[in-house]
Amino acid sequence: MLAEQVDRRGRNRLNPQPQPLRDGAAPSGIVIRRLPSVDDGQGDRLAELLIDCVDGGASVSFMHPLAPAKAQAFWRGIAADVEAGRRALLVAHDESGIIGTVQLVLDQPENQAHRADLSKMLVHRRARRRGLGAALMGGAEQMARDCGKTLLVLDTVTGSDAERLYARLGWIRVGTIPDYALLSHGGLWGTTLYYKRP
Ligand SMILES: CC(C)(COP(=O)(O)OP(=O)(O)OC[C@H]1O[C@@H](n2cnc3c(N)ncnc32)[C@H](O)[C@@H]1OP(=O)(O)O)[C@@H](O)C(=O)NCCC(=O)NCCS
Repeated sequence: MLAEQVDRRGRNRLNPQPQPLRDGAAPSGIVIRRLPSVDDGQGDRLAELLIDCVDGGASVSFMHPLAPAKAQAFWRGIAADVEAGRRALLVAHDESGIIGTVQLVLDQPENQAHRADLSKMLVHRRARRRGLGAALMGGAEQMARDCGKTLLVLDTVTGSDAERLYARLGWIRVGTIPDYALLSHGGLWGTTLYYKRP
């Protein structure tokens, strides 16, 4: 382990023990926490969340219909990265299970070690428009600080609900790339780049 990955108490900053975030902004009844690993049950719930978002038209790397086996394989890959400290993963859950998630790609080239990419920001359709997306973003910024990251970068579908969320939370718009990716139900669409200093 690199020396800079270890905090003053000797803990691995990039892969800590699970703990509720200090940020208390999650909507009532919802807990947001960082996972140091992803077990099979959590992987299945995250796969269901990803499928729900793709069904709803989100452009998050996958085309509709997204088969459960493909979604589960995706999360197994993420789990390996999380356990190795290459990614940091937040999940939000209520009494019914996991309803939201976001991750930071921590593993960057050696000349960009201060930076992380924010990725796979997902809120289940039944949990939207209650402030959970904003709470997850606040949690991601705190997690970035905890990991020693001073610059966050993301891209999102131009004109989407997510773009409004990021702009409202103070992310700086860099610009738009037209025809960047297919929407999950088809049709090329642009992406807009943002950054923020957490
Ligand atoms: C983008 C996304 C994460 C937002 O999640 P969310 O939980 O709905 O976000 P919030 O609740 O914080 O904000 C959404 C809206 O609800 C509103 N809202 C928040 N709390 C509210 C409340 N208590 N009552 C009424 N409205 C509320 C916000 O003002 C915002 O309004 P706007 O869309 O008109 O700007 C979600 O739509 C999603 O998962 N989309 C699909 C996946 C995706 O595209 N991810 C981004 C990849 S880059």
